[in-house]
This record gives sequence, C-alpha cells and structure tokens, in this order.
Amino acid sequence: MTTATPDYIPGLQGVVAAETRLSSVDGQLGELIIAGFPLEEIAENATFEEMTYLLWYDTLPDRQQLADFRARLAAYRALPGHTLDLLRAAAEQQADFMDALRMAASTISLRTPDEPDDEYRDALALVARFPLIVAAYWRLVNKQEPLPPRTDLSHAANYLYLLNGTEPGVEQTRALETYLNTVVDHGLNASTFTARVIISTQSDMVSAVAGAVGALKGPLHGGAPGPALDMVFEIGDAANTEPYIRAKLERGERLMGFGHRVYKVRDPRADVLGRAAEILYQTGGDSKLYALARHVEQVAVALLEEYKPGRNLQTNVEFYTALLLHGLGLPTALFSPTFAISRVVGWIAHAFEQQAAGRIIRPQSVYTGTRNRRWVPLERR
Ligand code: ACO
Repeated sequence: MTTATPDYIPGLQGVVAAETRLSSVDGQLGELIIAGFPLEEIAENATFEEMTYLLWYDTLPDRQQLADFRARLAAYRALPGHTLDLLRAAAEQQADFMDALRMAASTISLRTPDEPDDEYRDALALVARFPLIVAAYWRLVNKQEPLPPRTDLSHAANYLYLLNGTEPGVEQTRALETYLNTVVDHGLNASTFTARVIISTQSDMVSAVAGAVGALKGPLHGGAPGPALDMVFEIGDAANTEPYIRAKLERGERLMGFGHRVYKVRDPRADVLGRAAEILYQTGGDSKLYALARHVEQVAVALLEEYKPGRNLQTNVEFYTALLLHGLGLPTALFSPTFAISRVVGWIAHAFEQQAAGRIIRPQSVYTGTRNRRWVPLERR
C-alpha cells in the first residue's frame, strides 16, 4: 500500500495555520479588523499603550488599568549596561539596524538579579525597550551618546524624544501612534508565523521575538518602505514618473510599496496612513513631496495593471509608511526598526495565543532528491 503524497503549496499560500482573535484580514474586501475594531476607528483614536493592552487582554483598559499598565511598561524603560555595550560594538562595525535590533533584543534574556524570570516580564521588557534600542543605536551610529529615557512621556513620544532630544508636538505623537497602531498586527504574516513556530516548541518569548525580527528584515516583508521612498526621491518631479516606472517594469524590477500576498484591492492600511501623512504634512512638512507621492502611486498602479494585467497589484502599507515616517523626520534606516517597535506587540500577543493552543507547528515536505544511492568509501570517490 502506498501512502498518498500530500500536496505541496508554495509559499503556504491560502493555507490556514492558526486561529486568532487578534486581527482579521480580508484581502478581497480590503478590510482589516484589529481585535474587533475596524482599523480606521482604532488606529486614529487609541494610544499605543491602549492598543497593546487591547491585544494582550482582549479589552480596552479603563482609566486605572491604563495608568497601571503604562507604569508597568515604563518601569522597563531603561537599557542595561550589557545591552548598551553590545550596541556600541555593533555601531563600531556599522552593523545593519535590524541586525543590531535583533542582537540587542536577545540581551533581554540576561536578567538582572532583581528582575523576575518570567515571560510576562520579558514581554513588557521587549515592548518597552525596542524604542530605546533603536534610538540608542541611531545615536551611537551618529557618534552621539544615547539619551536617558523619559518615563513621563508616552511610549510613542518617548521614542521621538530619544531620537531627537526634543519633546515632540501633539501632531507628531499622534501621527506616530496612528502608524504604530496601523501595523501592530496583520494575520499570519511571515514574521508573526515565525514567532508562532518558535514559541510552539515551548521555546521562550525572547527567542520568538528575535526570530521574528529576522523575518521582518527582508525586503519582501518589512524592508520595503526605504526603497519605496527612494523611488519617489529618484523620480523627483511628476513629469519623470511615467518614464521612470516604465523603465523599471521593462527591466523586470518590482516596485516597492506595491502588491500584497493577501490584498487584491488597496491595502486599508495605506488609506489610514495616507490620511495621517496628509494631516502631518499640512501641519508643517514638504507638501510638494506629499503631492508627488500621490501622483507616483496613481501612475504606478496604472502601469502595474498594464505590465501585470489581472494580478491586481495595488498600493500596500509600506508606501505610505515611508511618507509618514519621513514626515516625522525619521531617516530611511529607521523605517524597518520602527515597524518592529510596533509589530513586537502583535508577535507577543500571537505567542501568548499559540502557547494557549499548545500544539507544535510542524508541517511536512515533499522529498525531491535522489533515491537508492549506495555508500562509496572515500578512497573510491
Ligand atoms: N512590482 C512589480 N511586479 C510585481 C510586484 C511589484 N511590486 N509584486 C508582484 N509583482 C508581479 C510578480 O513579478 C509576478 O509576476 P509574474 O506572474 O509575471 O511572474 C506577479 O506580480 C505575482 O507576484 P508574486 O511574487 O507571486 O506575489 P506574492 O504574493 O508572492 O508577493 C509581495 C507579494 C512579496 C509583497 C510582492 O507583491 C512584492 O514583491 N512587492 C514589493 C515588495 C513590497 O512592497 N513588500 C512589502 C509587502 S507589505 C508587508 O509585508 C508589510
């Protein structure tokens, strides 16, 4: 009796590998629900601390719960000496920002004697310290000393403060919170799946998050916004848009910030971030850049339909991420790490869910190698 060969599904496209209450992605309708809320409603209203509480506890906090949660998070808002030492060494080697974040995140496994050894502590420390790690590394690479964090500021405002040394305005903080809320969770994307696979082996939270950072680094996932913005800068003027994009597509290159495995209509996150970017640029920014980006988007979508008919390649989240983060004064090197500052909350929420599910994730493979080989001793090869 022969055993049936299971079907191989490249890229696991369409495979359902988890149940989650965290987010629902409808790629045909262009709808994203975060813990029961339409993205458009929650992203523009919640603080990032409220969003984190919602994902971890499945309810919005009341005033007291929020104050307690903010205080618990802020208590981890300091980088131990060993984390700073590692970042200094990485800065000397000019290590990639995502590599520096992954290495520094792993130091959270080194507990000081007064810190409890439990994964809820690790979860809080990871979320609280991600912005500190990124900002410290940015300053070290630029030959500046990291600034001491401020526990009186919100999670988002403290990040901007640590980068620039000045307290951000209300508009800047709101724009960053809207961004962080928008990208906090998105179904079973590659980095979240990575985190779930790692935690499903009963490994630990820091390992799950460090692995997820590695998955997010790639340009097909979290590494696209930098190149998306570079493209707008290279175009420079609306008149250059069509020849520039046409030439790229003729060369068979991909346009960063367009196309998505799940969305076959416009990514709803692009709308939320496009609106947030518009408000930010109106309150003091390069409005010409904003107008150019809108134009590039229109031309790109039209030419993608011409060159890849029927593939429904639309604007994804990364295009407006680039514009929004640039408007906040962030350099492109910080785009992917800032994505991680948000997504770490989703990774951890998924890891908690996966632990509750309690089953190791272990798919199968189809063997395509040779059979019936016979051992040949070294002297006869
Ligand atoms: N520009 C040009 N052509 C594209 C693009 C693009 N951005 N995206 C897909 N295509 C083409 C492919 O070349 C392929 O063409 P073919 O059928 O003639 O070979 C077809 O469209 C289908 O593409 P796939 O690679 O099968 O689509 P998949 O679902 O595997 O990929 C992905 C999705 C990786 C996001 C892809 O659209 C891409 O590379 N986009 C650019 C990078 C990017 O913006 N990444 C961020 C994604 S959002 C996020 O992860 C947070």
